[in-house]
Amino acid sequence: MVEIPEIRALLANSPPEYKALAALAVVGVFSLVGTLSRLCTWLWRYFLRPGKNLSRYGSWAVVTGCTDGIGKGFCFQLAKRRLNLILIGRSQEKLESLTSELKAKYKSVQVRTVLLDFTHSDLSSGFAQIEQLLSELDVGILVNNAGLSYPYARFFHEVDAELTANILRVNVEVIVRMVQIILPHMLKRKHGAIVNIGSGSASVLPSDPLYALYAGTKGFIDKFSRNLYVEYKHSGIDVQCQAPLHVATKLASIRRSSFFCPSPDTYARSAVKWIGYEPLCTPYWPHSLLWKLVNLIPHSLVDTVRFQSCMDVRKRGKAKEARKKDQ
Ligand SMILES: NC(=O)c1ccc[n+]([C@@H]2O[C@H](COP(=O)([O-])OP(=O)(O)OC[C@H]3O[C@@H](n4cnc5c(N)ncnc54)[C@H](OP(=O)(O)O)[C@@H]3O)[C@@H](O)[C@H]2O)c1
Ligand SMILES: *[C@@H]1O[C@H](CO)[C@@H](O)[C@H](O)[C@H]1NC(C)=O
Repeated sequence: MVEIPEIRALLANSPPEYKALAALAVVGVFSLVGTLSRLCTWLWRYFLRPGKNLSRYGSWAVVTGCTDGIGKGFCFQLAKRRLNLILIGRSQEKLESLTSELKAKYKSVQVRTVLLDFTHSDLSSGFAQIEQLLSELDVGILVNNAGLSYPYARFFHEVDAELTANILRVNVEVIVRMVQIILPHMLKRKHGAIVNIGSGSASVLPSDPLYALYAGTKGFIDKFSRNLYVEYKHSGIDVQCQAPLHVATKLASIRRSSFFCPSPDTYARSAVKWIGYEPLCTPYWPHSLLWKLVNLIPHSLVDTVRFQSCMDVRKRGKAKEARKKDQ
C-alpha cells in the first residue's frame, strides 16, 4: 500500500501539472461520491423505502377535499391501510357515494362525514362539528388537501374579488384552521402526521405567472409546513408539505393521465408512502425528475417558457368562456 508520506514525496518531486491533476482527481472523486450518494438516496426514497405504519399515528384520519381528485385517492389508500376516515366535503351526495364506495371496497372501514363548504363566510358551525369529532375519536392523520385554483390562467388584475377571497379562504385560512384545531389533540397523544398539499407551482417552479395568487398561497403552505415541521418534530408530530406537479384532475383541467401526469389513484399510491418523512416532497417519481430538470435550466428561461405556456392557457380559456356565453 502507498503510505501518505510517500504520496507527499512523490508530489513534491513531480512537475506542477501533475500536482494540478492530482488535485482535480481528488475533486472528481468527491463530486462522484456526492452524486452517487444523492442517487442512492433518491432510489431508496422513491423505490425501496417502505411507507410508515400509519396506524401508529392513530386509528382515524381526516381528509379535506375528499370527494374528488387527489383527496379521493388518499381516502382509498388510507382505508387500505386500515384507517377509519373523517370526510369533509361540500356535497352531501358526493360524501354519501364516497362513503358507500369505500365501505364496499374495505368492509371494516368506519366513516364519519362533515358537510362543509369552505368558501362560506361563516365556518364556525362546521369547525365546531369537526372539533367535536376530534375530541371523540383517535385521529392521527390530517390530510389538508382541499384547494382552489383559477378556472384558467389570468393576470392578477383579472382575478375578481370573489375568486380572491375564496382562494385565500380555502388555500390559506382553512389549512391554518385545520392545523390549529388538530394540534392540541396530537400534542396530548404525542403522535400525529399532518400532510398539507402544496404545489409544484410554488415549490418546484421558480414562478407560476398568471397563477400568482394560487401559487402564492401554495408557497405559504410550503413555508408554513416547514416551520411547523421544525417546531413539532420533537413532539412526535410529523408535518409535511407534498408538492404535486400535474395530476389528472378537474382542478388541473386534465382528463387523461400520462407518464408525467398520473391519475389521482396512481398519485395517491405514491403519496401515502411519504407520510411522516421529509418536510417537503413530491411523491410521484416522474415529478421528481421534472424537478431535477427545472433546477438544471436557468430559472429566467424557465420563467419565460412558463409565461408563454400560461398565456396560451389563458387564450384558450378566454375563447372557451366566450363560446359558453354565446350559447
Ligand atoms: N391536480 C393537479 O395538477 C395539482 C397540482 C398541484 C397541486 N394540486 C393540489 O392538490 C389538491 C387537490 O386538488 P385536485 O387536483 O385533486 O382537485 P379536484 O379534483 O378539483 O378536487 C378538489 C377537492 O376539493 C374540494 N373542494 C373544492 N372547493 C371546496 C370548498 N369550497 N369546500 C369544500 N371542499 C372543496 C372539491 O370538492 P367537490 O368534489 O365537491 O368538487 C374536491 O373534493 C389541491 O390543494 C390542489 O391545489 C393539484
Ligand atoms: C401497525 O401498527 C398497529 C398499531 O400500533 C399495529 O396494531 C399493527 O400490527 C402494525 N402493523 C404492522 C404491519 O406492523
